[in-house]
Amino acid sequence: MRFPTLFASLLLVLCFNQIYSINRVTLLKRKIGLRPSGEFLNNIRQWKHYFNQFKTLKQLPESNLQDIGRVTVKNYLNLNYYIPITIGNPPQNFEVAIDTGSSSLWIPSKHCSFFNFACWVHHTYNHDKSSTYIPVGDAIDFRYVTGHVKGYISKDQVTVGNFTLINQTFGEAIEEPGFTFVSAEYDGILGLAFPILSDTGIPVHYKMVFQSLVPEVLFSVYLNRDEKDTFGGEIIFGGYDENKFNVSTLKYIELSAKTFWQFKLDGLQVGDLEIELDQRQAIADTGSTVIVGDKEIVENFFRIIGATQDEDGAYVDCDKVNQLPPLDFIIGNQKFRLEGKDYIIKVKVYIFWTRCYIGIFGMDLGLEPWILGDGFLGKFYTIFDGTNSRVGFAELL
Ligand SMILES: *[C@@H]1O[C@H](CO)[C@@H](O)[C@H](O)[C@H]1NC(C)=O
Ligand SMILES: *[C@@H]1O[C@H](CO)[C@@H](O)[C@H](O)[C@H]1NC(C)=O
Ligand SMILES: *[C@@H]1O[C@H](CO)[C@@H](O)[C@H](O)[C@H]1NC(C)=O
Repeated sequence: MRFPTLFASLLLVLCFNQIYSINRVTLLKRKIGLRPSGEFLNNIRQWKHYFNQFKTLKQLPESNLQDIGRVTVKNYLNLNYYIPITIGNPPQNFEVAIDTGSSSLWIPSKHCSFFNFACWVHHTYNHDKSSTYIPVGDAIDFRYVTGHVKGYISKDQVTVGNFTLINQTFGEAIEEPGFTFVSAEYDGILGLAFPILSDTGIPVHYKMVFQSLVPEVLFSVYLNRDEKDTFGGEIIFGGYDENKFNVSTLKYIELSAKTFWQFKLDGLQVGDLEIELDQRQAIADTGSTVIVGDKEIVENFFRIIGATQDEDGAYVDCDKVNQLPPLDFIIGNQKFRLEGKDYIIKVKVYIFWTRCYIGIFGMDLGLEPWILGDGFLGKFYTIFDGTNSRVGFAELL
């Protein structure tokens, strides 16, 4: 059931002051989508709070193939990247955020609780209307960094692009406590990390291999960073598109864990200044808008580039974005460069006043990996190669 947009926005505004839980997937997205300053800053504050509270929870438990596996991604203001899928027979339509930082697939259920407001304003799955539905019923109750989903597992056919996955398990969300998902542009989440992190059974990119739809656990992501363009890029299951990137720049990085898409982060370079990192890891996470790193290092970076800092984040004069030094991430003896314009997020603070926030957050990460979110992944064509346990980054053409 999808209420008219006006109703959705109204609900959102009414609930705004009560927001106490924000999913890392939506992160800044909603704030930037709405653009009022106080809310944006409040949410950064709350997000930081919840990040620190919940950050470990997620860790618990070439032929024409490239054309067959291709799915067009939608982009909402560079903030949400999501794709259409269908579930059931006859097919029921959903839009799900692509999240390489989690592994579960879930969508809101038709049988959601009355107080699940997210369910009022999103597509819901009605298993009673699907001839291919198979009940499973195991309870799910899991959290993202700050979001929370409760419900049960069901089995049905799921179509992603041209691929139909038979007997795919996924979560039917009955409760989505908090307001995390109420204002999301997407209905649910498609987790694309490794199966060990999944609460809903085998992830779709593995199911594709088991069903011999693709030869190996591999997919590629291209994100369009033109926020005025609704074409958000592409995800290709089973292959990659060499017309999208400069092949001679493709560099593969070995994974250090097969949980998240995780690898060693050796250091950073800002202009001429090198910052060595000892024993640090990073993950490639399409589900995060921003880059998240160690507080001390990130704050040093802010000082070096002359950013103004308050408790909510750091920003620079928008006229100076072109003069910002490049930021290189050193991974596997390679430098991956972001220019100033790549690591800036423009936020309209008041009607005629835009502020250029740095899309990098400093947190007390402890031993948690750095998060290379869309600000980083939008700069490079990324190949997620689970079979060979590596990720490939290449310059976009
Ligand atoms: C795959 O889907 C696209 C549309 O999404 C379609 O144009 C294309 O023909 C399909 N390819 C195959 C082999 O089914
Ligand atoms: C799907 O599950 C049903 C019920 O367990 C089973 O009868 C059917 O053979 C399965 N189909 C496939 C393709 O695995
Ligand atoms: C591709 O990358 C190589 C190596 O950096 C560079 O010399 C070449 O000009 C690039 N080609 C294109 C089309 O950008």
